[in-house]
Amino acid sequence: MKLLIFAGSTRLQSHNRKLAHNAATQARAVGAEVTHIELADYDIPMYNADLEAVATPPDVMRLKVLMHEHPAWIICSPEYNGSYTALLKNTVDWVSSPVQADPAWTDGFKSFRGKVVGMLSAAPGMLGGLRSQSHLAPLMLNAQCWIAPQAFALGRAAEAFDSKGDLISESHRNSVQAVIDQVLWAAQRLHD
Ligand SMILES: Cc1cc2nc3c(=O)[nH]c(=O)nc-3n(C[C@H](O)[C@H](O)[C@H](O)COP(=O)(O)O)c2cc1C
Repeated sequence: MKLLIFAGSTRLQSHNRKLAHNAATQARAVGAEVTHIELADYDIPMYNADLEAVATPPDVMRLKVLMHEHPAWIICSPEYNGSYTALLKNTVDWVSSPVQADPAWTDGFKSFRGKVVGMLSAAPGMLGGLRSQSHLAPLMLNAQCWIAPQAFALGRAAEAFDSKGDLISESHRNSVQAVIDQVLWAAQRLHD
C-alpha cells in the first residue's frame, strides 16, 4: 500500500515534522510503501486566482500527481489558533483547484477523491493540537477523502521526542501505530 505522509509545518524543529518522521519509520516497518514529503520542498505561493490564470505552478502539478498516486495519507497537523495552518490550507486549495487548460486535471478533487486520511497532530499544550484535527476533518471530507476514525494528538510534544527526534514513549508509538494500521487497513479495502 502506497502511503503519503506530510506535516503542515516547515519549522526546522517542528514537532509535527518529527511526528511525520516517526510515522514514516513505523509504517515502513509494517511493510507500507511510504512517501514522506516536506512541504518546504514545494515552491507554492499563496493561492491567487490571477496567478493561476497565468499558469498553475509546476510544484502544484507535482503535488497533484503525487497525491493522486497514493491511496493512503497521514497528515500531521499543527494547531494555529484552534485550527490547521495556513500552509496546509493553501496546499489543499491549490491542489484542489481545477486546471482548466489541462483536460486530465479539470476535476479539482481528482487528487483527493477516495483517499483514506489518518490525522496526527502535535503541540506543546495538553490537547496536542486536537482542535486542528476537528477543522482538518471537514476540510478533507469536503475534498472527498475518507477520514480514519482512529487519530492521535500528541500533547506536551516538547518533551515527547529524544535528541534524534524519535518518540520516547511506547504508548505514543502505539497510538501512532493504531492510526497507521487503520489507514492501511481501510485503504486496502477501498482500493481493492
Ligand atoms: C500563530 C500561532 C497560533 C497558535 N495557536 C495554538 C493553538 O491554538 N493551540 C495550540 O495548542 N498551540 C498553538 N500554537 C502553538 C503551536 O502548537 C506550536 O507552535 C507548535 O510547535 C507548532 O507546530 P510545529 O512544532 O509542528 O511547528 C500556536 C502557534 C502559533 C505560531
